[in-house]
Amino acid sequence: MRQVLVLNGPNLGRLGSREPEVYGSASFADLAAACQQAGRELGLDVQVRQTDDEAELVRWVHAAADARTPVVLNPAAFTHYSYALRDALAMRTAPLVEVHLSNPAARESFRHTSVVAGVADGTVAGFGVLSYQLALRAVAALISAAPSPG
Ligand code: DQA
Repeated sequence: MRQVLVLNGPNLGRLGSREPEVYGSASFADLAAACQQAGRELGLDVQVRQTDDEAELVRWVHAAADARTPVVLNPAAFTHYSYALRDALAMRTAPLVEVHLSNPAARESFRHTSVVAGVADGTVAGFGVLSYQLALRAVAALISAAPSPG
């Protein structure tokens, strides 16, 4: 079964208690369970991780590139300013879908820029946990359109 990483950046481990009016009431554990369920339905082996550490996120992205592992990524605040993350993602060797719970385009102006979007296959934003489920569907479609040689 093809492995897919669902990577999450800073403060997303606080879901449930973090600004629930913006990010919803689901906890990070709920989000992870929903992703794993979507993976089972799509025939994907989904592993969900979260870090508040930019260097750790960059290392995970490097390892995904080495292993040709597709990634669903919520870069959280790194979306808006991390050129280090963008440069790491530019080395990708498998599908990459950017995802957001909220709709950054409808929020503060600093959220309107994504330095990651230009190196992703696409972005799903604004649908809460459903954004991740849709992103995993997109990854499944991209994989079946261009299966990994290995
Ligand atoms: C977010 C949107 C970002 O602007 C914010 O910094 C986050 C979460 C989202 O999922 O809506 O931490 O990526």
